[in-house]
Amino acid sequence: MKLGVFAPTLSTGWVISTASPQYRPSWFLMQETALKAEHYGFEFLLAPNKYKGMGGETRFWDYALDSFTTMAGLAAVTRKIQLIPSISLLSVPPVYAAKQVVTVANMAGPGRFGVNIITGWEKPEWESMGLWPGDEYFEYRYDYAAEYMTVMKELWATGQSDFKGKFFQMNDAKLEPHFGDEMDVAVVCAGQSDKGMVFTSQFADYQFMGGKLDRAELVGQIARVRTAGEQAGRTTEAYPLYQCVVRDSLEECEDVIGNWRENQDYPTVATMTGHASMDSSGDANSLHATLSKSDNFMLWEVIKGDPKSVAEQIRAISEVEGVGGVMFTFQDYQTDLDRFGTQVMPLLK
Ligand SMILES: Cc1cc2nc3c(=O)[nH]c(=O)nc-3n(C[C@H](O)[C@H](O)[C@H](O)COP(=O)(O)O)c2cc1C
Repeated sequence: MKLGVFAPTLSTGWVISTASPQYRPSWFLMQETALKAEHYGFEFLLAPNKYKGMGGETRFWDYALDSFTTMAGLAAVTRKIQLIPSISLLSVPPVYAAKQVVTVANMAGPGRFGVNIITGWEKPEWESMGLWPGDEYFEYRYDYAAEYMTVMKELWATGQSDFKGKFFQMNDAKLEPHFGDEMDVAVVCAGQSDKGMVFTSQFADYQFMGGKLDRAELVGQIARVRTAGEQAGRTTEAYPLYQCVVRDSLEECEDVIGNWRENQDYPTVATMTGHASMDSSGDANSLHATLSKSDNFMLWEVIKGDPKSVAEQIRAISEVEGVGGVMFTFQDYQTDLDRFGTQVMPLLK
C-alpha cells in the first residue's frame, strides 16, 4: 500500500479553526514538505488547486499556489516521490493541459507523474472569473470531463486528435512530444458522487475519497468504487484520505483536537457548506452532506493517537480489500511530518 501526502498549496489547510496551526503556502513550505515526504518514504504528493478561498477569520484557502507550476518546480528538486497536480477543467482547454502533463512528466522522469481531474464543485469560484457555464453544468460536469479526458488520452497516445463531441471539437489537434505506447501518467480523481465514481472507474487509476475509520463504512465506500469499476471493466484502487494527529498519547491528541473544535471558524464552515450546495442530490456521500455533519471543522476523519496506535490504525486500513493507498493531511507540515516520519514510519516498515 502506498502512503502519500496532500500538499499544503492552500492556506490554513484542512482544519477550519482559529486555534489550529495556520499557514500560507510558499515555495519554502512546498519544498520542505516534498523533500521531507520523500526522505521519510512517502510515495506520492497530491497538490490541490483553488482560485477563490472562503475568506473569514482563518482566510481559509484564500492563498493558493498554482498546483501545476508548483509541481513542475518540485519535479526538479525531488528524485523519487510521485507528483500529482490537479487540473481544474474549466480553467484550461484539454490540449493545453495535455501538453503541461507531457512537459512536467518529462521533467520528473519515468513513473513519477500523475494528474488529478477536477470538474469543480463550487459555483462561486467559477462565477468569480466568469467561467461558470451555467447551473446545468453541475449535472453534466462528468460528461464534460469524459470528453476532456478522451481528448487528452488521444493526444497522449497518438499525438493527434480529431475528436468531435458535444463540448470539444478537435481539428487535427497535435501534441508533440506525446507518450505513445509508454503512457507515463497516472490519472486520479476524487469525485464522491455516483457520477464522479463512474467517471473515475472509466478514466482514472485511483479514486481518492474522504476516509472512514469505521471498517464497515470504509468497506461500503470501497464497494461503491469497485462496483463502478466492475461496470467499466477496469480495476480502480481506492485511496482514502485522513487527517493525522500524532502525539505521545491519545489524551494529548484529544486536547489538541478539542481546542480546534472549541475555536471553530463557524462563518467559514457555513460559507463552504453553502458553496457545496449545488449538490442537492441528497446523496449521503455528497460533499454537501459531509460538510453538513457536526464535526465539519475538520474536513476528513482523523487518525490520532501515539505512534504505535497510529501505525496499527494504518495497518488495519491497508488490510481492507481494494485499498491501494492512503493519503494524509497534517496541520503543521513541518513538525507533523517529522513526527510521523521518525516515529510512525519505522513501525510500518
Ligand atoms: C483528495 C481530494 C482532492 C481534491 N482536490 C480538489 C481540488 O484541487 N480542487 C477542487 O476544486 N476540488 C477538489 N476536490 C473535490 C473533488 O474534485 C470533488 O469535486 C468532490 O470530492 C465532490 O465530488 P463530486 O464532484 O463527485 O460531487 C478534491 C477532493 C479530494 C477528496
